[in-house]
Amino acid sequence: MTNALFHPFAPAAKPEDDFINIVRGEGSLVFDDSGKDYVDALGSLWYCQVGHGRTEIVDAISAQMRKLESFNIFDPFTNEAAVRVADMIAERSPHPDGRVFLGSSGSEAVDSALKIARQYHQKRGDADRQLVVRRTNGYHGTNFGGTSAQGIAPNREGWGDLVPHFLEVGHDDLEAAATVFAEHGDRIAAVISEPVQGAGGVHPPIDGYLDGLRRLCDDHGSLLILDEVICGFGRTGEWFGAQHYGVTPDLMTFAKGVTSGYLPLSGVILSRGVSEVFEEPGFIFRSGYTYSGHPASCVAGVANLQLMTDEGLVSRANHVGEKIREGLAALEADGLIESWRGTGAIYAAELGRDAIPVRNDILQEGVIVRPIGTCLAICPPLVITDEEVGRVIDTMVACLK
Ligand SMILES: Cc1ncc(COP(=O)(O)O)c(C=O)c1O
Repeated sequence: MTNALFHPFAPAAKPEDDFINIVRGEGSLVFDDSGKDYVDALGSLWYCQVGHGRTEIVDAISAQMRKLESFNIFDPFTNEAAVRVADMIAERSPHPDGRVFLGSSGSEAVDSALKIARQYHQKRGDADRQLVVRRTNGYHGTNFGGTSAQGIAPNREGWGDLVPHFLEVGHDDLEAAATVFAEHGDRIAAVISEPVQGAGGVHPPIDGYLDGLRRLCDDHGSLLILDEVICGFGRTGEWFGAQHYGVTPDLMTFAKGVTSGYLPLSGVILSRGVSEVFEEPGFIFRSGYTYSGHPASCVAGVANLQLMTDEGLVSRANHVGEKIREGLAALEADGLIESWRGTGAIYAAELGRDAIPVRNDILQEGVIVRPIGTCLAICPPLVITDEEVGRVIDTMVACLK
């Protein structure tokens, strides 16, 4: 029997009783309603940097909610938590002098960034710049803007007309991007790209690719949007993928790891150059969300970023990554997987065959990884212990043999 609950990205006819009911979490482990434990090797859904059950964040949220549970930040209001989290995010980004727009979901962040990019050009008298270049395998959420920006074709199908003016290029084909710019450069508002493509199968960029996009944007007056919803907040071993790859975007979207998922928070970082265009006296920015700057979400962000800083979790991603790479390299050497790819603490094991049955076996044995086509994605909390990484790898070995 199905219940009222209509699950996202799930078979709509699947009975509620067939889902795994997760009831508790601690560190990198989660527990179902039978008491069985699982290593959460995907950080829930690519977001749980600091691990589950961190009372520091829960206490900060609770204290905020006892004082003020919520109040909006549309003009003329503001709140301390929103100001503080925006400062902390900007300070850690390549744009310490930039501005931070806040929302709740990654999809809201992406749609906001697309709107900001187009309006930036309009305000500079270049209203014809509406095209956005997207990459195959790109994932940018499921609102209409993000759906249109996606390079995962099945996710774009079945919804009727999407947002017009998107052009797709092969995900690592810089020449194709150069051709699109040669043909349409004066009408391209922006390129949108994840630093490492996550939900599309964990594809790090080939050498020089993001640099190449930056150059094309500079040469043609277009903006570079890096969608840091997965890569942001330590996943690559730097605060942002932009810093990991040494590329400075004009706009950056973030969500997930900013609060480690304790409460929903997302946003867009605007470079100084972009934000200045909006700062003319009297101009009103006409976009935003009821929960933009929600104080409870914002204190969750402040507490999470403070924890990550105090515990050195950004550089710890490199240690976690080293352990995962050792394990995956051994699996490859033993012929159990075809190959692996990734950087920092985000990886894919390429099986060369449907990954879902293998994932099901691994899940049965108490490890959560995500099947994407023919690969299994691994993106654990940055606090995962070496023993827990060992359990992930040993379980994969047992199930792949
Ligand atoms: C790169 C990227 N952008 C946007 C999104 C959408 O975020 P949300 O699901 O919070 O709307 C995701 C979600 O996985 C993502 O990975």
